[in-house]
Amino acid sequence: MSSTTSTLNVDSKSVELAVKAGTIGPSVVDISKLYGQTGMFTYDPGFTSTAACESKITYIDGDEGILLYRGYPIEQLAEHGDFLETCYLLLYGELPTAAQKADFDYRVTRHTMVHDQMNRFFQGFRRDAHPMAIMVACVGALSAFYHDSTDISDPQQRMIASMRMIAKMPTLAAMAYKYSIGQPFVYPQNDLDYTSNFLRMCFAVPCEEYKVNPVLSRALDRIFILHADHEQNASTSTVRLAGSSGANPFACIAAGIACLWGPAHGGANEAALKMLEEIGTPDRIPHYIAKAKDKNDPFRLMGFGHRVYKNYDPRARIMQKTTHEVLNELGIKDDPLLDVAVELEQIALKDEYFVEKKLYPNIDFYSGITLKAMGFPTSMFTVLFALARTVGWIAQWSEMIEDPSQRIGRPRQLYIGSPKRDYVTVAQRG
Ligand code: SDX
Repeated sequence: MSSTTSTLNVDSKSVELAVKAGTIGPSVVDISKLYGQTGMFTYDPGFTSTAACESKITYIDGDEGILLYRGYPIEQLAEHGDFLETCYLLLYGELPTAAQKADFDYRVTRHTMVHDQMNRFFQGFRRDAHPMAIMVACVGALSAFYHDSTDISDPQQRMIASMRMIAKMPTLAAMAYKYSIGQPFVYPQNDLDYTSNFLRMCFAVPCEEYKVNPVLSRALDRIFILHADHEQNASTSTVRLAGSSGANPFACIAAGIACLWGPAHGGANEAALKMLEEIGTPDRIPHYIAKAKDKNDPFRLMGFGHRVYKNYDPRARIMQKTTHEVLNELGIKDDPLLDVAVELEQIALKDEYFVEKKLYPNIDFYSGITLKAMGFPTSMFTVLFALARTVGWIAQWSEMIEDPSQRIGRPRQLYIGSPKRDYVTVAQRG
């Protein structure tokens, strides 16, 4: 990696800062020694201009709407590959040979069951508990079950924990869904592929044979590919920060799930569908566009806008295509929610507010329509996002642990509170 220097003049001091260039994308100014040289911090709430790490996993060009996993365009991976192939790519850095893929599929498949005592955790929840609350709890609970792979300095144990995480998320997600509808848990069936297994655990019932629809399974598998990783987003940064203290990997993933749940992040797919349902019909769109533009109104168009993409989210395009594929397969000729979504997108993309602020549909805008059509309740949408993103969190966590320069993450602050003052007894407080 090449580097040059830049000079920063601050407080009559002049400091030389290294400028490092990556393979592609913006270079960075290395400010790691700035505090030592100037006694000052940088200030960047929300990290809009801050690179927190070096990474080889995912590259996003927000202006061009480009997303690469280990250099491969998302469009090509979604078109030609399957989710477990993408998992292999994100974890190992290369596409697998046929033999490597078969071995990886075999290894993941044989970790799909959870310890049977996990079932008891569900009994403590009310039936109407949000499945994301259940996932935060149950994934965190996994950290209590695997004492044979908690030495994160051992690459072998890190890989076992990674396999277990990728393999058990669908099982736990399906259990969370089954619990919420009062149906018995369905155990994994190892002769099914990863996503077909998940669909069966969600929608099969003991009293009859369940046949996986291959078109829906392929569509959901592609949706998982789209959600697998996304550079240093909020939940991935959460996993990295939690992992930087050496915490148990399952507990770190639980922290990532908690962060993803927020409506500004992964919770946007649930919020976007609720927004489309609230709008209801195309004639009510102008009212909501006006609300989204009103500075005094907290309402935002959910599924629109992105911290990095200032162009169309490439995943949203593939998502839109998948939506039509699923609706056709299910014989849903006209979905009122899709009508509202398509009309809303067309109006927003022509409105100068959205054009000027470069607000485009993101991955969450169409995903809810597809998942609802497949039979998932709105409350499960972010759980499916978490299921898919687990491999990204794990790959980024491993990259951080393996980084020789890795240290505990510990940001500083600009203090604007009270200067030092002496204690006043309650009698003196007046
Ligand atoms: C994901 O980071 C990732 O990579 C995330 C993700 C991933 O794969 O991990 O891609 C997944 O989280 C996608 C984003 C899902 N969230 C939503 O769809 C929620 C709606 N979107 C917004 O909340 C917002 O766009 C964010 C949170 C996504 C981005 O917020 P930023 O980068 O902090 O931008 P901002 O809030 O400063 O907005 C810039 C301007 C503001 O106006 P001004 O103060 O400059 O006048 O655009 C406006 C905002 O008010 N704006 C919107 C808007 N999003 C931004 N106005 C109306 N509707 C919106 N959706």
